[in-house]
Amino acid sequence: MKAKRNFITTEDWSKDELDSLLNLALSLKKVPYNEHLKKKSLFMVFFNPSLRTRSSFEMAMFQCGGSAVNLSVGQDTWKLEHKLGTVMDGASSEHIKDASKVLSRYGDAIAVRCFPGMTDWEEDAKDSVIRGFAENATVPVINMESSLYHPCQGLADMMTIKENIGEPKKKKFVLTWCYHPKPLPMSVPNSAALISSTFGMDVKIVCPEGYELSHDVIKTIKNNCARENSDFELVHELDKGVEDADIVYAKSWGSLEHYGNWEYENKIREKLKDWKITKDVMKRTNNAKFMHCLPVRRNVVVDDDVIDSDVSVVYDQAENRLHAQKALLTSILGDA
Ligand code: CP
Repeated sequence: MKAKRNFITTEDWSKDELDSLLNLALSLKKVPYNEHLKKKSLFMVFFNPSLRTRSSFEMAMFQCGGSAVNLSVGQDTWKLEHKLGTVMDGASSEHIKDASKVLSRYGDAIAVRCFPGMTDWEEDAKDSVIRGFAENATVPVINMESSLYHPCQGLADMMTIKENIGEPKKKKFVLTWCYHPKPLPMSVPNSAALISSTFGMDVKIVCPEGYELSHDVIKTIKNNCARENSDFELVHELDKGVEDADIVYAKSWGSLEHYGNWEYENKIREKLKDWKITKDVMKRTNNAKFMHCLPVRRNVVVDDDVIDSDVSVVYDQAENRLHAQKALLTSILGDA
């Protein structure tokens, strides 16, 4: 039996290990069906909705000969509590401590999606739900997007970058904030910037003032860039920021400066509607590819004539979730 190996953030895995996963993903992409996960089972615990993550994990298990069980928390399961030591006299009937130990007795791995509460940054920064599952499960735990990270999206993103622009080292990865009517979590931008820095890309984060990623994540990105001899830059102007980009990765996220104070933050965000990826923005780049994890608000985050154009690789990203997750599951559970 393989030793328990979690996948909470790509930072827990070395660059060589991630590279091996991506190479395996590329080879699995050529032959969709195999039996690497025969007699293996995956529990997928969803605290939040999903289209891509749920479908691609379920198909990955099926196409590799295993099976997946979907559980929507509070609908298919009891409402789950995650805080330790809580007197559970409220809405939640079961603790994740018990749920993770029980599911570990039935299946071979547990995957969890748990978005942040978006009211208290100190609380969200603990990533307690995914960490609670990882600590208590006796089988591997996979992060299907938590408060802080979306590592499976990050894997698929790097696979897509390699397929579309070749060797990533020293290529220019621009992560740009875009306007969105709601404040969103930082998990996708964190994981996209982290894996790009791990693979030696020059990383530029372009965002309005007050919308910087967290200090801890920036510190890790800078350390990765220093190790890889690549550059890190923070720019507060969209037009200037995308110059020379090989990749434009668009995403919105809420301001850390006003975290939880969204009524006030909304007044600032409403003035930032011109932070949108248009044809003119893309013209300023080095013939960059356009990336977004989806779902996306068309003509708010990105114009139709960009996302529907030849430079857009958003459906490759979505497809590569399937192949990258097959590689991950095979590496953690399988026989390849
Ligand atoms: N990109 C992504 O994780 O999509 P879903 O939220 O639909 O799973």
